[in-house]
Amino acid sequence: SMHSVCVVLLFTRGVLGQSSSALNEQWEEWKVKYQKVYNNQSESLYRREVWEKNLQLVLRHNQEASAGRHTFTMGLNHLADMTAEEVNEKLNGFKMEDPNHFRNWTSKQVSDASIPSSVDWRQKGMVSPVQNQGFCGSCWAFSAVGALEGQMKKKTGSLVPLSPQNLVDCSTNDGNHGCRGGYISKAFTYIIRNGGIDSAHFYPYEYRQGKCRYSSKGKAGYCSGFKVLPRGDEKTLQQAVGTVGPVAAAINAMLPSFHHYRGGLYNAPGCNPRLINHAVLIVGYGTDRGEDFWLVKNSWGTAWGEAGYLRLARNKNNLCGLYTVMIV
Ligand SMILES: *[C@@H]1O[C@H](CO)[C@@H](O)[C@H](O)[C@H]1NC(C)=O
Ligand SMILES: *[C@@H]1O[C@H](CO)[C@@H](O)[C@H](O)[C@H]1NC(C)=O
Repeated sequence: SMHSVCVVLLFTRGVLGQSSSALNEQWEEWKVKYQKVYNNQSESLYRREVWEKNLQLVLRHNQEASAGRHTFTMGLNHLADMTAEEVNEKLNGFKMEDPNHFRNWTSKQVSDASIPSSVDWRQKGMVSPVQNQGFCGSCWAFSAVGALEGQMKKKTGSLVPLSPQNLVDCSTNDGNHGCRGGYISKAFTYIIRNGGIDSAHFYPYEYRQGKCRYSSKGKAGYCSGFKVLPRGDEKTLQQAVGTVGPVAAAINAMLPSFHHYRGGLYNAPGCNPRLINHAVLIVGYGTDRGEDFWLVKNSWGTAWGEAGYLRLARNKNNLCGLYTVMIV
């Protein structure tokens, strides 16, 4: 529409109108903040160009947000010097499984009244601190350990962070591909077959795939089964998260608005539910000013989103495609 064209033009003038020294300063500050060092001059120039494009995108979006056209804001996080294609290739390593292979979770018929209207499992000590997967497509491993950590806490009373590196290194025979991606279900298949998984303290994260070094001395988690929730059924998901605990999930995280999400209710109209590429952990849900949301833990560090978390619009026709796997 004419209106949006004007906003875009205005905004572009605004950014380009910024003195180049102010922009230089902002660039230098951002590089220091995120400890960015480039190999050579041409790499540095290229990253600056990408960063400026992302800056424009962020400023335009936030201007529209303050005019009431979006329910979330964007910001310059550690991914601001990367294109959307790079982020999707390097970080989003979720592979979609064939649902016909699994037993679906069928909830015992419970009355709506017994499902909590909101829940935040962080407040019950069931969620470990946010981690950063780095430039390794290991989201599936972080998602899987997150779900198991919650169930172990329920069983044993203590929250022990489990080792995504254990899964990255050791579940290749189960069909996973280390930093090149994997399946949540195959992470659980490995843990069941292996008879356990080490703690993150015993088997620390290394940002790349290495030799399998599992040892039962470091074992801190085990699992005997898992189920898949009916896809796109947000009511059943609410019941599962509300009554069982954090649930491993996968979503469409392809859009730049996701990569540079800063805070608020993520409700991006272009978030196609059929394109799923990133695994996360659903740790709760609630309603904010009349808008339902899922509380989602990501593994992109605390500089991303709301201290590492995302609030994803809920009951909006399965926005971004939420596909969920859970442990029982
Ligand atoms: C500069 O660094 C980039 C990224 O590491 C590399 O791909 C490129 O070949 C380098 N170019 C030169 C001229 O050394
Ligand atoms: C599980 O549910 C999905 C639809 O959500 C269906 O396609 C699949 O066949 C079901 N699996 C089994 C084993 O019933």
